[in-house]
Amino acid sequence: MRTNAGFTPQQGAHISDSALCATCHNLMTPVLDNTGQVIPDREFPEQAVYTEWQNSAFADGRAEATSCQQCHMARTDGVKIANRPRNLPKRNDFGRHGFYGGNTLMLDILSANRAALDVGAGDFAASIEATRANLRSAADLGIEEATLDATKNELLIRVRVTNNTGHKLPTSYPSRRIYVHLKVSDPAGTTLFESGRLRPATGQVIGVNADIGAGFEPHQRGEITRAAQVQVYEAIMGDSDGNLTYTLLRASDSNIRLDDVVGADQTKREAIDSMNLFLASYRFNRPVMEVASASLPLLGLRAIGVLLVTYVPWLTLGLLALF
Ligand code: HEC
Ligand code: HEC
Repeated sequence: MRTNAGFTPQQGAHISDSALCATCHNLMTPVLDNTGQVIPDREFPEQAVYTEWQNSAFADGRAEATSCQQCHMARTDGVKIANRPRNLPKRNDFGRHGFYGGNTLMLDILSANRAALDVGAGDFAASIEATRANLRSAADLGIEEATLDATKNELLIRVRVTNNTGHKLPTSYPSRRIYVHLKVSDPAGTTLFESGRLRPATGQVIGVNADIGAGFEPHQRGEITRAAQVQVYEAIMGDSDGNLTYTLLRASDSNIRLDDVVGADQTKREAIDSMNLFLASYRFNRPVMEVASASLPLLGLRAIGVLLVTYVPWLTLGLLALF
């Protein structure tokens, strides 16, 4: 490079710094009112991944300090960065440019339409699997408590969802959603209670208001007692008149984004660590029951839910031990 381009490469330490990602992953967009005019001096946090990270336990200098690169660029050893000079030493702790996130939409489209799109790249299957593995690592699910009150004919289940990512879950572009799917069935397989069932043909989650065009699903802070209540984690955007909008450039307010995060105190940081407790308590007719599944799939990714159930056998088998 020195001979041919007259350029002497130097190490840029900033490449390993999380702040590098902030240049794109903290993004403010202009706000348009409902007549289409730009509102001066108003901006909307389209995404605030870096700010979320800064306020999490993963920020530099904190207990679990982990950079964006450490999670999104898998490490590998023994890499030669060029073929010449021949005696160039191999390097360790080299960041691979995988950038696996939480969705495989584009990978699926590219993979399925290789010929039509003249895609040269090879192994999509490996990237799809690496993305799913990253998604599976995003949260821990657990049943904290399952108490049967025979006198009231009531079962109380306390579910904990722990966010393991270095930012909000879900993060980034404000169309992403995570919901909890909990199903209780009897040994014969009859469903006794279900919250968060996906209707695969349409992608709707049964009980979520937004999916039937009826506003948005409020974040459940108390007990979930009806199938019409679903625990959803998502960004809800409001326009300049304070009404719900799904149009990015009309968005002027967001209920779970920057106002939650900027200047966040320690409590908020902890809230990012273990995002929520969700309570389900309901009446049922039969004394013997089992929790058939509890999952946390991203919209449209049912397989992930199945996998989570597979990885946490307690979710399907644990309650049986109680009876
Ligand atoms: C120059 C702008 C830019 C920088 C700098 C940048 N990104 Fe991105 N990143 C993007 C854009 C744009 C997308 C969305 C691409 C898409 O979905 O097609 C994206 C997508 C991603 C995704 C999701 C990929 C997926 O599976 O959909 C991850 C994860 C990610 N970036 C991590 C990082 C990390 C970590 C850094 C810092 C080391 C970083 N990015 C720096 C622009 C950037
Ligand atoms: C402790 C590990 C960890 C750290 C640190 C971390 N991430 Fe992530 N990130 C994840 C996981 C796991 C997911 C998948 C969950 C999701 O999609 O929201 C994810 C998702 C994302 C996505 C969304 C991908 C998509 O499919 O749309 C982006 C963008 C992203 N991270 C960027 C960053 C940036 C930028 C930083 C640093 C400021 C960072 N991450 C720090 C683990 C991490």
